Amino acid sequence: MWLRNKIVQRMGGGGFMEQVGLDAWSMVQMASLASRKPGGEVKLLRKVRRERKCLNSAWECYNVMTLARAMSRLPGSFAEVGCYQGTTAKLMCEVKGDKPLMLFDTFEGLPQDCDKDARVHSVGQYACSMEKVSGYLAEYDNVTYHKGLFPDSAADVPEQQYAFAHFDVDLYEGTLGCLEYFYPRMTPGGVMLSHDYGMLKGVEQAFHDFMADKPEPIIPQATTQVMIIKQAGVAAAVEPTQALAPAMLAPR
Ligand SMILES: C[S@@+](CC[C@H](N)C(=O)[O-])C[C@H]1O[C@@H](n2cnc3c(N)ncnc32)[C@H](O)[C@@H]1O
Repeated sequence: MWLRNKIVQRMGGGGFMEQVGLDAWSMVQMASLASRKPGGEVKLLRKVRRERKCLNSAWECYNVMTLARAMSRLPGSFAEVGCYQGTTAKLMCEVKGDKPLMLFDTFEGLPQDCDKDARVHSVGQYACSMEKVSGYLAEYDNVTYHKGLFPDSAADVPEQQYAFAHFDVDLYEGTLGCLEYFYPRMTPGGVMLSHDYGMLKGVEQAFHDFMADKPEPIIPQATTQVMIIKQAGVAAAVEPTQALAPAMLAPR
């Protein structure tokens, strides 16, 4: 639990310490992946992680890539909210086929946090311009960029279904906005995956608050990630209290 400690998170937050820790941990994870996963996958992960600064560990990148690849078989678009320098977005591009991918970001870094967050971030942290991200992903077709605060930045996006949505916004309000926007638009069987559920108080709280009256279980991963698999037509048939184990909802 020490990584969830506010002081540790403030010390690490976006700086040298965070990157050194993440890189060291990811080296071990890459070695583990290289010992048992196909060479092509390992090569791609290594390449992407070397090209740009990535705030997801190697195992987290692996989960983004494999879940996105699996969801590319379902009808619906892909989306990511919180792309920073574009590394997890690039992994989604590599496996999406010809699906549309919508990338949402302020492209000016994090917005203001709120009292549901642990107050470990600062406004403007993790800023990267849209031009840098679009340049990095220029070789991929069907990728669109939506600059501004999500979910307001989705106002002009045509109504559609999503097969895979990746959230990496670090904060309570942004994560809640992602869940409110994407949950009703997910293809049955589609996946919403978020970074930092096991790490950041506000992200975890947003999942608990939003999913409290939904039938789908919250599925925490061994990484900091969490996922929800959208079910078809269950909401009307199943009492939320029967469908969700209370332990899944209880704050830690
Ligand atoms: C931790 S970084 C994302 C890391 C990235 N996925 C990677 O591969 O390294 C968080 C990003 O979320 C963006 N962000 C946070 N809240 C947002 C919101 N409400 N709307 C749009 N972008 C947001 C920030 O600008 C930043 O680029």
